[in-house]
This record gives sequence, structure tokens and C-alpha cells, in this order.
Amino acid sequence: MEISGSTENYRNLTVQALAVPVFAGEKAESGLLQELDAATGGVIGAVLSTGEFKGKDGDLAYLPLGNQADLPARRILLLGAGPADAYRYPDAARLAAIAARQLRGKKVATIGFTPRIASADGVAAAAQGAFTGLFDTDTYKTTGQDEKGAITHFTVFQSDLDADALNAAVSRGRIIGESINFTRTLANEPGNEMTPSDMADRARQMAEEFGLECDILDEARMEHEGMGALLGVSRGSEEPAKLIVLKYTPAQPAENTGELLTFVGKGLTFDTGGISLKPAQDMELMKYDMCGGAAVLGAMRAIAQLKPGRPVLGVVPSSENMPSGRATKPGDIVRSMAGKTIEVINTDAEGRLILCDAITYARKLGAGRIVDLATLTGAVVIALGDVNTGIMGNNQEWVDEIIATGKEVGEKYWQLPLDKEYTRQLKSDIADLKNVGGRKAGTITAGAFLKEFAEGVTWAHLDIAGTAWGDDAKPFRPKGATGVAVRTLIALAEK
Ligand code: BES
Ligand code: ZN
Ligand code: ZN
Repeated sequence: MEISGSTENYRNLTVQALAVPVFAGEKAESGLLQELDAATGGVIGAVLSTGEFKGKDGDLAYLPLGNQADLPARRILLLGAGPADAYRYPDAARLAAIAARQLRGKKVATIGFTPRIASADGVAAAAQGAFTGLFDTDTYKTTGQDEKGAITHFTVFQSDLDADALNAAVSRGRIIGESINFTRTLANEPGNEMTPSDMADRARQMAEEFGLECDILDEARMEHEGMGALLGVSRGSEEPAKLIVLKYTPAQPAENTGELLTFVGKGLTFDTGGISLKPAQDMELMKYDMCGGAAVLGAMRAIAQLKPGRPVLGVVPSSENMPSGRATKPGDIVRSMAGKTIEVINTDAEGRLILCDAITYARKLGAGRIVDLATLTGAVVIALGDVNTGIMGNNQEWVDEIIATGKEVGEKYWQLPLDKEYTRQLKSDIADLKNVGGRKAGTITAGAFLKEFAEGVTWAHLDIAGTAWGDDAKPFRPKGATGVAVRTLIALAEK
């Protein structure tokens, strides 16, 4: 799909369809809507006065126009934008995505869209939405593609920006949108197509394409580093684990770049549970247990192109969790790279085991300000569903900054308390720690486990088990991997 910006009069765009956000209760009495109303002989005003379309979030009105309309476009799509005072640029991204998906379904090929926000952020969001909205999960379908339709050109209209600012914003939105889709593509791949080696290969290719430093540790190097926790998880698998390390270094670093910003993402390419085997029901979904790692790779892909002024490190431990004659057994003790011994009570609590060594290795590479993200616990799905990502950390300012950044970019976080009392649940009789803390507060005890490996650094943990996967299709995206947290990570790097 081609994408471009335009400052031409909106109604004169030579596209097949115009897509227009309409605020709650808005009438065709001024500005853009009035102009469109005049050009369509009163169609817009008529629709807005019927009460069928109120501009509510989720409202849609698709209006095919006859030849009498005084517009190059032959169709208009009105999109409910909700109350004008609550409308922000992430809403523009969502509406652009809905417009692109809807109109593709109508076999429209060229679209004009206005974010109705007079800023570069609004334009970038619209461009981003066009890409994320058209994302599909039909890579493995051998039939049916012809009926799908295809958007060939998406034009973002905004007359309040000059051409340079407009083009820069469009290309920024494209980078972010394509990077979110990169994350989703990795995450949707089935386990047989996305082994740790495959994940490492994709990371290496991406790093070469966009100019990131890349180092992939194999199991021999992990052994040498003493990563017994990570290696204990991959023991049961025929597929060797990989530790992916990516580094972005700015050509001209900003004055004071502070502590080294570091993203650590769980890249568990398939989680059977190991010897503590999961039930068969829904186990196929455990291919998405590498969404944290995929989000780190997607964010690094965008960062490499957006070129913020501070360096960023990305670390992704990638492994399979399988049962076999060699697999780690409940009760086994592993020695982590940090030196702490861990009694593995449940081999299904493997995410924290691969993350703790990744965090320790990141620290060895100079990490000072860490965000780790992981599909870590089923408990967070019960607590927060697919709406909020669970967040906790050892530094309230850092947690607050991530929550605030998420709010700006349209990603929701809800903090869970990480009081030291929870750490007691991880006491082992014979080792420094055990890897599970019982039934109570499962998401928090997972965080408490990781906290033990983040002493002395600024650290926050995001549990994306509920938000990384959409069980149902939405008007703005298909069912499957959502690419959650990619926007937050990019925005943190740009702060
Ligand atoms: N990958 C799972 C967590 C998960 C569950 C992600 C559902 C997405 C959806 C993780 O490795 C796991 O199995 N956690 C266990 C921990 C328990 C054994 C303490 C869980 O949540 O049941
Ligand atoms: Zn597990
Ligand atoms: Zn897992």
C-alpha cells in the first residue's frame, strides 16, 4: 500500500472514498462536515439528523453517492469518534484502522482520511492505523485471498501542517504501524515455524536491514555465562535456546542520556508447561508465549528508523518449554547467572526462569533502566482481562512514567502492589528461591521473583498475558496477536 499526506482541499481528493471521524452530537453546520454536506446535496446533514448515526464510538455510516455528488469520491464513510473533548490521537489511529478495514471490504482501493487533529501526532496516528488496520492473519490460507480486496493508496489529509511536517508525520506513522505488524507477524507464527532459532534469524535479518548491532548467544555461550535458569527451561527441547541481544546507538547522542534504557522480552516460542504439562484445551495458544520478545523486536525495529537521541538495548531470551527424558523435573534446582539457586517447583512457571538470566545478562551489558515484558501468568488474565496490562516495579517514578506514556499512546496499564511480604511466598526449604509462590497473587509473586534479579537497577515488569492476544476480531484488527506495548516502548525511547 502506498501512503501519502495531502493539504489539498479534502473534498477535492481524487480518491474513491472519503473517511471522516464525526464527534458525538456533531451536526453538518460548519467546517468540513458542512462542506461535504453541500457537495453531496445534503446527504451528510440528513444522516446526522436521523439519529441512526450519533457520532458515538463504534457508530458507522457507509454512504455510496450517486453521480450527482460534486466530489471526486463516490463514497463517504462516517466514523463515530465519541465526545470531541475526549478525542486523542490514539483514537485517530483506531478510526483510520476501521476505515481501512471497512472500505477494503467494500472493494474500495483508494481512501482519503482526515484524523481531525491538527498535529503531526494526529497524522502519524492515522498513518499507523492504516497499516495496523489492514493487517491480516491469512499467510497460511491458500484460497480466498482474491475476494479480500486491497487498498492501494491511503491519503492522510491535514491542511494545518506544511508539506514537510506532513510527510515526516506520515512516514513516522508508517514506521510504527509496520513495526507493530512485524511484532504481530512473529507472534502469530505457529511453534513449528517460530522456533528459538527462527526467532533469532528474524531478529538478525531485521537488525541488518535497519542497522542495529546484533549478538545471538547460543547454548555454549549461555553455559559459559552460567545461565542455569534459562538452560534449565530449554533442556527438555530438541530446539536449542537463543539469547538475542540488539543495540541501538544514536549517531548523535543527546546531552544527558541517563541510565541505559533496556527492554527485556519473554521469547518462549512454545509453552507446553514442560513436565508440569498443561491441559490440551487451548494449548495451541501457547505459541503466543513469545509476545514479549516479539514486542521488543518490533520496538527496536521502529527505534532503529526513528533514531531517538539515546541508546537502547533489547534482550530476548528465546526457548521452548517441552517435556522429555532430559527435561527439568519438579524439585530440580538450577543455578541462575546471578548466583541465586532456584528450586523449580512447577516447570510451567518457566517465563521467570528465562527472564531472570536475561535481566542479569542485560545488567552485565550496562542496563540501568529496565522494562521487562512477558506473557507471564494466567492470573493476570483473570485479574485484568484483555483490557489492562499488569505493571509493577521497584521504582514508583519509573512505573508512573510508563503508565503515563501508555496513556498518551493509547495503551492501558494497571499497577499491582509489589510489597515485600509477597516475596515470602517464594521461600524454598533448600534453595534461595522457589519458582512459584502458591495460588495466591500469582501475577504479583511472578513479579516478586523477577524483582530479586533487579536489585540496584530501575526496573518495571509488564505482564501482557491478557493483552497480547485478541480472542475475537475487532473492527480495527483481526483476531490474534495485538502487538501490545510496542507503542509504549517506542515512546519511552523517544522521551
Ligand atoms: N505462559 C504462561 C502464562 C500464560 C497463561 C500466558 C495464559 C498466556 C495465557 C506461563 O508460563 C505459565 O504457564 N504460568 C503459570 C504459572 C504458575 C505455574 C505459577 C500460570 O499462570 O498458570
Ligand atoms: Zn508456562
Ligand atoms: Zn509461559
